[in-house]
Amino acid sequence: MRIAEQKIDEIRNSADIVDIISGYVQLKKRGKNFIGSCPFHQEKTPSFTVSEDKQIYHCFGCGNGGKVFKFLMEFKNISFVEAIEEVADHLGIKIEYDSSPSDQQNELEVYFEINTFAARFFSDCLLKNNDGEEAREYLKRRKLKPQTQRTFGIGFAPHGWNNFLNHAKSNNIDLNKAKQLGLIDLNDKNELYDKFRARIIFPIFSPNGRVIAFGGRVFENQDNVAKYLNSPESPVYSKRRSLYGLFHSKDEIRKLDKAILVEGYMDLVSLFQAGVKNVVASSGTSLTDEQVQLLSRFTKNILVLFDADSAGQKAALRSIEILLKQDFEVKVITLPKGEDPDSFINNFGKEQFDEEIARAQNFLEYQTSQFEQQGMFEDPAQMTKAIRELVRTLALVSDELKRNLLMKTISKKFGLREKLIESELNTVLYHSKEKEITQVNRQAVRVEAQDKNLSLPLSVKQQTENPYEKELIRLLFSGEEKIVTYIFDNVAIESFNNMDFRKLAEIVHSGLDEEKISPADLIEKIDSKELRSFILKLELSDHVISKNWDELSYNGRIEKDTYEHAMETVRSFHVFQIEDEIKKNNLLIAESKDERLHIELLKRNKELQDDKKSLLGLKSKNEFDW
Ligand code: CTP
Ligand code: MN
Repeated sequence: MRIAEQKIDEIRNSADIVDIISGYVQLKKRGKNFIGSCPFHQEKTPSFTVSEDKQIYHCFGCGNGGKVFKFLMEFKNISFVEAIEEVADHLGIKIEYDSSPSDQQNELEVYFEINTFAARFFSDCLLKNNDGEEAREYLKRRKLKPQTQRTFGIGFAPHGWNNFLNHAKSNNIDLNKAKQLGLIDLNDKNELYDKFRARIIFPIFSPNGRVIAFGGRVFENQDNVAKYLNSPESPVYSKRRSLYGLFHSKDEIRKLDKAILVEGYMDLVSLFQAGVKNVVASSGTSLTDEQVQLLSRFTKNILVLFDADSAGQKAALRSIEILLKQDFEVKVITLPKGEDPDSFINNFGKEQFDEEIARAQNFLEYQTSQFEQQGMFEDPAQMTKAIRELVRTLALVSDELKRNLLMKTISKKFGLREKLIESELNTVLYHSKEKEITQVNRQAVRVEAQDKNLSLPLSVKQQTENPYEKELIRLLFSGEEKIVTYIFDNVAIESFNNMDFRKLAEIVHSGLDEEKISPADLIEKIDSKELRSFILKLELSDHVISKNWDELSYNGRIEKDTYEHAMETVRSFHVFQIEDEIKKNNLLIAESKDERLHIELLKRNKELQDDKKSLLGLKSKNEFDW
C-alpha cells in the first residue's frame, strides 16, 4: 500500500514538530527554540533542540536530528509510512492509499518473503531433521544455547543438492528470484541446485529485522572448501551497507552509547549470549564508509575488538582510519594471541572479558604499541617512519581540539618537541587539504607558478577559508526566498572554497528550481550525515556568528535574517576575497625577483583595490538611498 505523495505533503505541512515531539519529550521554550532532554542518549543538561519555525529538531549532544517523521521513526523504531500514519492520526487527517501498487516496494517484498521462507526452512532442519542432529551437536560443542540459536534464527542446510529446491518448488516460490538471492543456482547441465549444503546457517538481518542474506559455515574445516559461504549482492542485500547483528544490538548500543566491533558471526553471537549485547560484526573484511555511517545512527563510540592474528590487526588498522574520518571515538582491544572474541569469552568468561575491555587503548596508543612490537623504535630511520605513520592517523581526526590533545600525547611519548610534530602534522594536513582546493584556484596558482617558473611559498599556496562562507550557507538554509535569490544572484556557487559548502549551496540551488527551499525540505536532500548535522546545528544555534566573524566586523546578535544582513554578508564575502587575493599577490611579489611578474601583480592589485572601493561605495549608496 502506498500513500499518495500529495497526501504526504499535506500531512507534512499541517504537522507541527513541537506539538508532536511534546508528546514524547518534555520541551521548554528557550529563546526562539524549544529544548529538552534528548531521548536518544543519556544526558544531564538538555541539548535536544526543536525549532518551530524551521520544523526541525537536533540534539547537540548526540547529533540525532531531522524532521518530524525522522523523530518518530527513530524514537518509536517504526517505518516512514508508519510515522506518517501516526502524524495523520494525530491531526485527524484521513489517509488515502494509492490503489496502484508500488512496483518497487512490492517487488522487494517478494525477495524478503523468499529469504524468510528459506530462513524458516533452515531453522526447521536444525530443530527437526534427523540429520540435523549433527548440526545440533556441533552448536552444542561451540556452546551456543538453543535460546541463542532461536534469537539469531540460526539454521542448518542439510546435505544433498536439492532439499531447499524441492521445498521451494512445492511452495510455488519464484525460482528465478531465489536464484538471484543466491539460494539456488544453475549447474553445467542447466539444472538448479542448492547453494547452501551441509552448513550452519546464519541469517543476516537488516536493521529493521528483515532477512536480507545468509552466511553458511562448514562443520569441519576442509581443504578447498571455503569456511563461510555468503549470499551474493541482491536487490535486498548490499554487503558494504550491512552490519551483522545490528538488528539485535541496536537498542543496547544506543542505550550504552557505545558499540563493540568484532569480525565474525560466531564472535557476535557468543558475546551476545554472554550478555555483551552492544556488538556488531563486520563479517571478516575491514569496515566500509557505509557501514560506519549506518552505525553512527546509534553511537559514535566504538571499541574495535579484532583477532590477534595479523589479518585481524591489518583489518583493525584500516577500520580505525574509516572510523576516525567519521569522527568516531575509537578504542582498540587486542586479545591474547590465538584468541578471538568467541573463544575468549568461552574460555575465560564474561568477567575477564570485561577486564579486557577496561584495558582498551585509544587508537594512538594501540598503533604505537604495534610499532613498538615491530621494533620500529629501536632504529632511528624506522622511528621517523613510525612517527610519520602516527601523525598520518592523527590527521584523520577532524576535531581540532581533539587533534591537538593527541598531538601532545605523541610528543610526550617520544620526547619530541611539539613543534616538530606540529609541522609534520601541518604537512600532512596541507596535502590532504590541497586535494580539496577548488579547480579554479588551483589553476590560478598553477598558471602563475608555471608561467613564471616560481616555486610558491607554502603561505601562498595554502587556501584561506573565507569566514563569510559559513554565514552565507546559514542564510541559504534560512528558507527566506528573497535572501536566497539575492545570494545566488551575487555569489557564484563556484566561488565557495570549501567543497562541502559548495555541495550545500548546490542543494539549495536545486531546491530553488523546485520551489522547495524550506530548511526541512532542503535538509532531506543532504545525503551526508555529517553535513546534515552541520546544517541542523547551524540553523538551530543562536545566531552568534563564528569567532572569525566577530573579529572581522560584526558585533552583536542578529534577531532575524534580514535582507540587509544578507547584502552585508555578501559584500563582506567579496571584500574578504579581494583582500585575500591582494595579500597573496603581495607575498608573491616579496618572494619573486621577476620584475615582469611584479608589474603584473601590481596592476592586478590596483584593479582589486578599485573593485573593493566600488563594493564599499555600494554600501554607502544603499545606506543613503532613501
Ligand atoms: N569470513 C567469510 N568467508 C570466509 C572466512 C571468513 O565471510 N571464507 C567472514 C565471516 O563473516 C567470519 C569472519 O569473516 O565470521 C571471521 O572469520 P574467521 O575468524 O575465520 O571465522 P570465525 O567467525 O571465527 O568462525 P569460527 O569461530 O566458526 O571459526
Ligand atoms: Mn572464531
